[in-house]
Amino acid sequence: MDIVGVIGAGQMGSGIAQTVAQRGIEVLLCDVDLALAEKAKAKIEKTLARLVEKEKITAADASAALAKIVPVADYAPMAGAGIIIEAATEREDIKRAIFAKAGEVLGAGAILASNTSSIPITRMAAGTADPARFIGLHFFNPVPVMQLIEVIPGLATSKDTVARTRAFAESLGKQVVLSGDEPGFVVNRILLPMINEACFVLGQGTASVADIDKGARLGLNHPMGPLELADFIGLDTCLEIVKVIFASTGDSKYRPAPLLAKYVDAGWLGRKTGRGFYDYSGEVPVPAV
Ligand code: CAA
Repeated sequence: MDIVGVIGAGQMGSGIAQTVAQRGIEVLLCDVDLALAEKAKAKIEKTLARLVEKEKITAADASAALAKIVPVADYAPMAGAGIIIEAATEREDIKRAIFAKAGEVLGAGAILASNTSSIPITRMAAGTADPARFIGLHFFNPVPVMQLIEVIPGLATSKDTVARTRAFAESLGKQVVLSGDEPGFVVNRILLPMINEACFVLGQGTASVADIDKGARLGLNHPMGPLELADFIGLDTCLEIVKVIFASTGDSKYRPAPLLAKYVDAGWLGRKTGRGFYDYSGEVPVPAV
């Protein structure tokens, strides 16, 4: 791929843009307005500068990568992209509106991919102009660091689209897991029930935030405990994924933990709002309860 379109310049979209640009590929980055895409580019510039400071990359690598990121005001310039990756808010109505607009500019033969973490690919594909060229391409946060990408074909996705998407993912230096179009795909189907269960454990008073996370860090060798990780992902995103898995399986074992839903109601969404299971207002996060 010579040009990649990324729609959504939040945490995931920015991470995808940085990763693609660091492989020398041009990225057209779009959000609801140009200012947001430009802000994301400025943030990526800071991240790259930190990598230069740590001597992970050279200053020349950083400026070369930065030059590959082009904030755009609308999708029109993406007509020349080999793949357009949607990384917007995890809401089906928002994503569907994006696919409709992106479909108007999508080049003949180009692929339309969604970074959804849980919404069925087959269902979203059905609303696009060419479901054979629609696919799930699920990155993990922080994208430049995490080794994995899940590739999720829908029922109508062509074999050619799967092969080209896989080759693109591998060209980013990532490992691929091919997943069926089932709720939560592979990784979130395993991860989110664990995070949800940690919320039940906390809600039932079995252990404190600090001890639940310490248990997973020291007892399981996880780099982050489940509550810390939930804050990192965003509690709203976690709740959405659990809801999707629960609704589509109908299995009560996936019912959302009341405490998780309450935190989302309170607007305590984790790192991005400064408060979740931890309080991020100081230098070091501390358990908020
Ligand atoms: N670009 C490039 N490198 C970056 C980076 C970026 N944007 N951000 C961090 N890094 C690098 C750092 O330079 C550092 O490298 P070294 O160790 O070689 O110095 C490394 O990544 C680790 O960063 P830090 O030292 O800042 O922090 P850390 O050691 O505490 O690790 C972490 C942070 C990588 C996030 C680690 O805690 C971790 O792996 N946590 C679990 C993350 C996880 O599970 N993610 C998946 C979430 S689920 C998901 O995303 C799917 C979904 O749909 C919900």
